Amino acid sequence: MYDIITFGSATKDIFIKTKKFRVLKDKKNFATGKGVCFNLGSKVDIDEILFASGGGGTNTAATFAKQGFRTAYCGAVGQDLAGQEIIEELKNLNINTQLVVKSERKPTNHSIVISGINDDRTILVYRGASEELKKENIPWLKLKTKWFYISPLSGELCKVFGDLIDFAVKNKIKVALNPGNCQLSLPPKLLRKNLGKIDVLILNQEEASLLTGISYKKEKEIFKKIDEICSGIVIMTKGEKGVVLSDGEYLYRALPPKMKAADRTGAGDSFGAGFVSGFLRSRGDIIVATQIGIANSTACLKKLGAKQGLLKKNEKFYKVEVKKEKCSKNGLCQCRVCG
Ligand SMILES: Nc1ncnc2c1ncn2[C@@H]1O[C@H](COP(=O)(O)OP(=O)(O)OP(=O)(O)O)[C@@H](O)[C@H]1O
Ligand SMILES: [Mg+2]
Repeated sequence: MYDIITFGSATKDIFIKTKKFRVLKDKKNFATGKGVCFNLGSKVDIDEILFASGGGGTNTAATFAKQGFRTAYCGAVGQDLAGQEIIEELKNLNINTQLVVKSERKPTNHSIVISGINDDRTILVYRGASEELKKENIPWLKLKTKWFYISPLSGELCKVFGDLIDFAVKNKIKVALNPGNCQLSLPPKLLRKNLGKIDVLILNQEEASLLTGISYKKEKEIFKKIDEICSGIVIMTKGEKGVVLSDGEYLYRALPPKMKAADRTGAGDSFGAGFVSGFLRSRGDIIVATQIGIANSTACLKKLGAKQGLLKKNEKFYKVEVKKEKCSKNGLCQCRVCG
């Protein structure tokens, strides 16, 4: 019996840091209004390079294993060197790899993360084997665990989302979910049905906005709407502005310490898995869970790569203040969010 099984992608990440990273403002050609530029036709020197495994499924598994939980990752890699290296790295982290499937159909997922001297970064993404995992490839009989942590699932894997949740409900497995665009774009009725069964729902501002159709700036309306759909804990992460979450009765807010991030990759995964680790360890104390979530993401951001700095069990960490305020769903609440 595992404590937790994580689902989601497994990637081989290549981190490249270079002072030659130039940002060009150009609203016409780039959706974000800015592009990354290098001299065409020349060699560009790289200051730092790191090869590491990444992807929501394996990043979150790394936090759980480091926090001392019996952890397995269930997902797919390709039948190639990168896939084998990911499996080895997971084993070294004490993550069980019995549930990892080697797909013949596509090579392992790859990401090339290019960043400059500040925390701006652009990621080139190859979506390969991880997205190819189908319902029939999942070793269902071996999914014996107390918790599932479901990271963004895309491609074929997105179709398995509902099956995983039905399986969890049938087998009394609790579910933490960080849905990706693919899941959030499922037909609203189906999505609502699935979200109704989630114990911990983790969204960033854009995802919360996509789910509700409400601007992320209108927190009051966002939480009212998501609390109606999901009876579990609902979390909205806000990058350097921290996190706000609701247990349906109270709202909790916390700010991370001010810091200079070496690399932002894995921020969401380290917060989500840190939160769930704290939640499990403290048997449901949301304040402790939030403090561990923030400390784990802060530790992750200080290092290049998504698994480098993650907190270990019993490692000392700075506990941020978590503000708690009453928030009932009946509209009588006077808190800042419900006002
Ligand atoms: N610049 C930062 N400084 C301090 N903490 C940060 C910063 N960026 C992110 N964090 C921490 O990480 C948490 C998750 O970050 P964010 O809201 O950016 O998630 P995300 O958009 O899901 O990230 P990802 O791109 O990794 O999926 C935040 O709630 C915060 O605690
Ligand atoms: Mg995220």
